[in-house]
Amino acid sequence: MTTETTPPDQIETERLVLRKFRADDFDAVHAYATDEGTYRFMTWGPNTPEQTREVLDRWLKEQEAWPRGDLNYAVTIKATGELIGCCSLHHADTETGAVGYCYHSAHWRKGYGTEAARAVVGLAFGLLGHHRVWATCDARNHGSYGVMEKLGMRREALMRQDVKRRDGWKDSYLYAVLADEWPTS
Ligand SMILES: CC(C)(COP(=O)(O)OP(=O)(O)OC[C@H]1O[C@@H](n2cnc3c(N)ncnc32)[C@H](O)[C@@H]1OP(=O)(O)O)[C@@H](O)C(=O)NCCC(=O)NCCS
Repeated sequence: MTTETTPPDQIETERLVLRKFRADDFDAVHAYATDEGTYRFMTWGPNTPEQTREVLDRWLKEQEAWPRGDLNYAVTIKATGELIGCCSLHHADTETGAVGYCYHSAHWRKGYGTEAARAVVGLAFGLLGHHRVWATCDARNHGSYGVMEKLGMRREALMRQDVKRRDGWKDSYLYAVLADEWPTS
């Protein structure tokens, strides 16, 4: 990442506003962090209120610093302002990183996951000058690799039992895209 270039506090897409988290986002964050659909394939959840408070407090603090390891954007619906989930870029180093996302199940299958992830990967390859962006998911998580495939990411690996999930050691897919493969318009 180019450390002299500060990432935007807010990114607008056609239907969404990705913005910094706020202290009054607690209820919306806790709603998706306790939604069984949302956490099914995650290594966390369901959150206790204390866990949600801790993670939100950490994000609020971290988002004031640059450079930082993780960019966590609150994903909100432009028309209503409703916070539906989070889309993140986790920097592995200055030129590569992983995209991640999770949304309350009430908002799935409307294209929001792809729309937000496209904006965050676009930020990685654009302003932040990344070379490679990847993503991993439980190999059973069709929704997650559906987003990756819609973004044009390539399945590079099936990683055998690499993550101990709530129901045991499970396989993951690795997807990635390079800067020169990312459409610029
Ligand atoms: C995975 C997730 C982010 C997808 O978000 P979304 O907004 O529903 O995704 P989109 O609507 O952009 O869907 C993109 C494509 O993925 C596929 N897809 C999405 N959800 C699917 C599902 N439940 N089953 C099968 N395919 C699915 C489809 O191909 C879809 O395109 P289509 O609707 O045009 O057919 C969402 O389901 C989620 O938050 N899940 C819980 C958290 C999570 O698992 N995060 C990923 C961790 S690696």
